[in-house]
Amino acid sequence: MHSHLTYAQPFVSEKSTALTGNVQVAGDKSISHRSLILGSQIIGCVRISGLLLGDDVMNTKKALQQLGVSIIQEGDVWVVQGRGVGGLGEPSGVLDMGNSGTGARLMMGLVASYPFTSFFMGDESLSKRPMQRVMTPLSQMGAQFQAHSGNTLPLSITGLASLMPITYELPVASAQIKSALLLAGLNTPGITTIIEPIATRDHTERMMEYLGLGVTRTPLPTGGFSISITGQPPQTFQETELHVPADPSSAAFPLVAAAIVPGSNITIANVCMNPLRTGLFTVLGRMGADISYSNQRTACGEPVADITLRYRPLKAVEVEDAIAPSMIDEYPILAVAAACADGISIMHGLGELRVKESDRLQAIADGLLACGMKAEIQGDSLIVHGTSGAVIGGGRVVTHFDHRIAMAFLVLGLNATKPITVDDSRAITTSFPTFTECMQSLGASILPERRSVRRIVPDHPLVIAIDGPAASGKGTLARKLADHYGLPYLDTGSIYRAVGMRLVHNHLDPHDVNAAIEAAKQIDEHDFANPQLRQERVGQAASIISAIAEVRAILLDFQRQFAATHKGAILDGRDIGTVVCPNADLKLFLTATLDARAQRRHEQLQGQGIEVVFDSVKRDLIERDTRDSKRHTAPLTAASDAIHLDTTDLNIADVFLQVVELIEARKAIKAA
Ligand code: DC
Repeated sequence: MHSHLTYAQPFVSEKSTALTGNVQVAGDKSISHRSLILGSQIIGCVRISGLLLGDDVMNTKKALQQLGVSIIQEGDVWVVQGRGVGGLGEPSGVLDMGNSGTGARLMMGLVASYPFTSFFMGDESLSKRPMQRVMTPLSQMGAQFQAHSGNTLPLSITGLASLMPITYELPVASAQIKSALLLAGLNTPGITTIIEPIATRDHTERMMEYLGLGVTRTPLPTGGFSISITGQPPQTFQETELHVPADPSSAAFPLVAAAIVPGSNITIANVCMNPLRTGLFTVLGRMGADISYSNQRTACGEPVADITLRYRPLKAVEVEDAIAPSMIDEYPILAVAAACADGISIMHGLGELRVKESDRLQAIADGLLACGMKAEIQGDSLIVHGTSGAVIGGGRVVTHFDHRIAMAFLVLGLNATKPITVDDSRAITTSFPTFTECMQSLGASILPERRSVRRIVPDHPLVIAIDGPAASGKGTLARKLADHYGLPYLDTGSIYRAVGMRLVHNHLDPHDVNAAIEAAKQIDEHDFANPQLRQERVGQAASIISAIAEVRAILLDFQRQFAATHKGAILDGRDIGTVVCPNADLKLFLTATLDARAQRRHEQLQGQGIEVVFDSVKRDLIERDTRDSKRHTAPLTAASDAIHLDTTDLNIADVFLQVVELIEARKAIKAA
């Protein structure tokens, strides 16, 4: 699975026979982040084995390197030269935390105690996640933030050489806030105290103790802890090894796979058994799964064991909210276990799932529905109707680039009557880069979706269909391709715009169906080049009339005739791959984030001397996207055999080169 590919990588899983064998799963993500960050805080050298090589951890590594820490790889071991508490330098460049909430929040705590400014950014999904929760206490200690409205990334933090130690009670149960404060407190004179009414993951405390960066923990009657750290501890040179145990959240996927596929019997070695992480194992036990533990020991201050699971039918379970913090990442895969169990399962206290890598709660429910299951959300609770193993499947699950949603539904497919497809598997590399190989080694059928790759016959007329939302870069790409291959080009949006323009100029309401039909009948090719076509109000009118089935029918013939000449053609629009040219040689579906598209459209309009405010351009796009994709006739969707291209971070030259490469590759495919 490749995270660097710009186009989506759909994967399919199919009903599999018994899963058997021993596997290693990826290193624990939380502990991997902390081993690098805390390793940088000792004086001396830390050798780390079992580190998770996912994108998130690699972003933390890079951020630490930008702060002056030497981290090098020697085979499977990562060697960190710790600089000691207070030993970091002003970062070179922006700290890009990618998709990782843990990386972003912990690193903010780490740099808060330095008298310099650090800039943080993240990918689209991280840029939507709440940062206020760390900004509040770090500001109380004396750090200053400049952030986007809504207090999301990107942001800058300017620290202080001497922060104020504080006592802070966590308003939400979050190990990330606690850890950010412990890291800030580590380099703050005096005693910083964090009170957590409910216990949250304690990997930071355990590793701090293990590395001699002492913290004290006092249990509270509420079940949580009061945790204190005395800042700027005396330090001496040390050389240490850290063995990162396997991630229980990753182990959850093969374990549930074995729990739902009859006859399975698998063992996973070296799994972190921290009681604040093993909620899923407990719940699986309550559902009747046959789980046993062996070879129990400690590593990195964490309890570790090998886990064996033998298949036994599951029964439904009710999961109380108190257990949610110990398995917050496991609900997607627990929902999959529940879907295969006998009876109705209810899981409470899932509000926090709405602010994860995606709105996970909704994504789980939507995924189950897509696979023919019954599931509902009631408040913060998820209700899953079990099928006693009779999962229908056949769905295409939208993952929202969420690794756990992708893996959970691939597991569900292993016991479904019809194969299950997840729309994109690239995110899996963030936590479990070897997921597919690991599952395949147990006998699971999980493979890339076989697309019918159509061979393009060289020297035959080439028809290319390009679809996508407004301002996704379709027109620019289409024009470049048309130039390169000497093909006629039709911007089908201008046909709809020409109809819209007629109505606008005649002061007619675009919602007036009869007027729109008349205007469509009078369509005149000369209008297609009229610069007024580009006005936003004309675009809006086009979007409105394009929802009228009769209008589309009238305009369809013209588009098909354009594509059918012996010269070939390139057409762009919303329904070219699905309706106008369903037999096109190549179908592309371009996307880009809303902000990127609004930015492009804004610049384009400014370039034409049209003054509009950015927010109004953005509002127009949202309105148009919604209308174009919700309409009944020929809505904006990708054809099933379209290649998806996310152009957010690409310039037009890159997009063009990728597409030319694709076309040439298809020309070169040997005739089957
Ligand atoms: O691509 P554009 O912004 O110029 O398109 C204007 C409108 O026309 C768009 O909002 C929807 C409609 N349209 C369509 O429905 N089908 C097409 N093939 C092209 C455009």
